Amino acid sequence: MLRGKKILIGVTGSIAAYKTAHLVRLLVKAGAEVRVLMTPAACDFISPLTLGTLSKHPVSVHMVSNADQGTWTNHVEMGMWADLLVVAPASANTIGKMANGICDNLLLAVYLSAKCPVMIAPAMDLDMYRHPSVKLNLSRLKEYGNNVLQAENGELASGLIGEGRMPEPENIFAAIEQQFSKKKKLSGKRILITAGPTHEAIDPVRFIGNSSSGKMGIAIAELAASWGAEVHLVCGPSFVESSSAVHRINVRFAAEMYKEVNRLFPSSDVAILSAAVADYRPKSVAGKKIKKADAVLNIELEPTADILKSLGEKKKKNQFLVGFALETDHEIENAKKKIKSKNLDLIVLNSLNDKGAGFGYDTNKITLIDRNNKMVRFELKSKQEVAADILNAIVKNIK
Ligand code: CTP
Repeated sequence: MLRGKKILIGVTGSIAAYKTAHLVRLLVKAGAEVRVLMTPAACDFISPLTLGTLSKHPVSVHMVSNADQGTWTNHVEMGMWADLLVVAPASANTIGKMANGICDNLLLAVYLSAKCPVMIAPAMDLDMYRHPSVKLNLSRLKEYGNNVLQAENGELASGLIGEGRMPEPENIFAAIEQQFSKKKKLSGKRILITAGPTHEAIDPVRFIGNSSSGKMGIAIAELAASWGAEVHLVCGPSFVESSSAVHRINVRFAAEMYKEVNRLFPSSDVAILSAAVADYRPKSVAGKKIKKADAVLNIELEPTADILKSLGEKKKKNQFLVGFALETDHEIENAKKKIKSKNLDLIVLNSLNDKGAGFGYDTNKITLIDRNNKMVRFELKSKQEVAADILNAIVKNIK
């Protein structure tokens, strides 16, 4: 599977760097073309000569390799060359810089300009790995669409025992193989996704909205694209960015979302409607800003069209329709009712009773229920991991 694949390995300053030699060896043996980049600190832990010999190519460390002759390393070209960039080991320092757009060495410049998927294998001591700033940086890197591997548990170089070890080279190798096979899981499929809230105008400056961030739907869109799907994301107002791999159509009102989704649905194989669409909108929108008055202000509301239901009504046999349900009580019962009333193939249930789940969080806790009422409950996970659970359930059901 890895034969001919171009893999760029970024090595940073961590004692685990010695294990990267074995990873490079495994990749070369599997037929991959491997190039290695190192940060200056990484060279204190393992010599460029070792990694250069194993990868059969000179190792790059500095932006400018021969200043007096004006020779520099073209980081843009390196980022374009690779099918995959693997940062292993990724130190807390490099993780912090990657998460915050800092670019003070060649490896970081390549990361910022890389167009290919990026895998990150963290390695540090357990208290560093547990630190809130590191956690935040890692979740940010996941949000950017990077594949962040979980550090492993065991004895650390400090002698302490806990989480923080770089995954073993064999495990990184397996994750790399999986990354390439994932691409195939949804290749040739067209997936339509909705995300975010909608804003229903009251007057030119005010609206009725909700606190959906769009994070869940955007995580699904990014992952589906990295699994090879052609993804159209119809997104309500959200500050969360998406990569160029996703075709994003920004909308504001439920009516605009309805129009775009219904336009794209006939040519979609799968539709996943995760947006928190307003169920009501002001019946009339004031042309000018409503002035403050002493009297009570009543705003008459009318229902918006149910986008998900409209797709359920026109769904063809070969189309797979997924809805979301955010419930506070009688969760399972209500979700099952929605499967029937909206003619869904699968529903993703979020309960507002679960801590860390729902709007705004980076985590979510879901239950999947299919049209035969088969139910699978999942633990609290990052939204990227939840996206993988949802997409895996879809992959199992579509041809
Ligand atoms: N949805 C939609 N269009 C709407 C309202 C909701 O497409 N106008 C979709 C959401 O994207 C989600 C699903 O319907 O996939 C469920 O939304 P939810 O608000 O939980 O259900 P409702 O049918 O609106 O019922 P209720 O709010 O009464 O629970």
